[in-house]
Amino acid sequence: MSVLSGKKILLGISGGIAAYKTATLVRLFIKAGAQVQVVMTPASKDFVTPLTLATLSKNPVYSTFYEELDEDNNTKEGVWNNHVELALWADLMLIAPATANTLSKMASGTCDNLLMATYLSAKCPVYYAPAMDLDMYKHPSTLENFKKLQEFGNTMIPAESGELASGLSGEGRLAEPENIVSFLEADLASKLPLRGKKFLVTAGPTYEAIDPVRFIGNHSSGKMGFDIALSAANKGAEVILVTGPTHLNVENHLIQIIRITSAQEMYEVCHQYFDAVDVVIAAAAVADYKPKNVAQQKIKKAEDTFVIELEKNKDILFSLGQIKKNQFLVGFALETDNEINNAKAKIIKKNLDLIVLNSLNDVGAGFGKPTNKVTFIDKDFTIFENELKAKELVADDIINLIVKKYEA
Ligand code: CTP
Repeated sequence: MSVLSGKKILLGISGGIAAYKTATLVRLFIKAGAQVQVVMTPASKDFVTPLTLATLSKNPVYSTFYEELDEDNNTKEGVWNNHVELALWADLMLIAPATANTLSKMASGTCDNLLMATYLSAKCPVYYAPAMDLDMYKHPSTLENFKKLQEFGNTMIPAESGELASGLSGEGRLAEPENIVSFLEADLASKLPLRGKKFLVTAGPTYEAIDPVRFIGNHSSGKMGFDIALSAANKGAEVILVTGPTHLNVENHLIQIIRITSAQEMYEVCHQYFDAVDVVIAAAAVADYKPKNVAQQKIKKAEDTFVIELEKNKDILFSLGQIKKNQFLVGFALETDNEINNAKAKIIKKNLDLIVLNSLNDVGAGFGKPTNKVTFIDKDFTIFENELKAKELVADDIINLIVKKYEA
């Protein structure tokens, strides 16, 4: 999955012949899973139509502060296009093509169109991809503008060399849309807060065999652990996701899924990778007990009652807590009474850095549900209460707490 997936991209188009390439660019952004809004300078509309870009981006395209009424005066309201709102919506702004004129305005803060007003209001990272003739590209004033924009914190996606619209050949062509996308992906990936960090996440239930066809299991769907793995990967972490039986899947080049069945298998995989990871998040609902003897053949029904002797499974998280060095250990707790105190006791017993407390007393939280209501308690017993929210958002909250720890 692209790092652009889910990103809100504001594309600013200025008036150069290369503007026609932005149709492909928008298509690539959408294909990568991004949301796109487009702001055009009036001049750029001579090179590519707003209709094309609106169709491809699936959003209205803006080019003036005031949206005029159409000829019938009845199908469209006159509306003020709020440049501040547009700018604040964006996770990143890209100005492509950035003509010499627009670059100069960006460098001097000249605000004479909607694109410039939006640029000046943007708080997100701004990228620009220049496009102009080769002599303009090398002109001292252009170079001076590049320098200024770099000082402002804007990132340039350099022009490429080749045939130019003037018939000349040299540096100044707008970077090809595919290269702009790769540039943005690489740049964003390099800035992800968990880049270089390795996570081990456990998920799902474990099945403890009774005989070749029967097992003891539980209703865990694995969703919480999968959401945590994805959230960590979205922030750049490499994740080993050890999961019990579940129908869930996730495709992400940073996530390696290892499917196991029993608690013993989960234990072995976790210990195999533990030394190599920075963070462990144990979201699995590991069976506490397993049948002491597993029948080799299918057990035939006979007596009216049937007793299975159970023995304790190893506590995976506890065992990792015993041997941890610098790893940050996160456990889950599901409590029904005396919740906070029991959770605190679990932090000490399992040598955890953070515990995520699920309360069964909250409607909408827990097994098989898309939502969860959790309380975080860290090893200093600081308590963070949370609202009932989608499991994806709970996962983000957990990962954001860990990001903060690394930033501190
Ligand atoms: N866990 C584990 N291995 C086990 C059991 C639990 O790694 N054999 C992990 C779970 O993934 C979870 C945490 O430990 O992160 C909490 O498990 P829980 O069952 O609540 O803890 P217990 O110590 O078993 O608590 P209790 O005795 O209250 O059931």
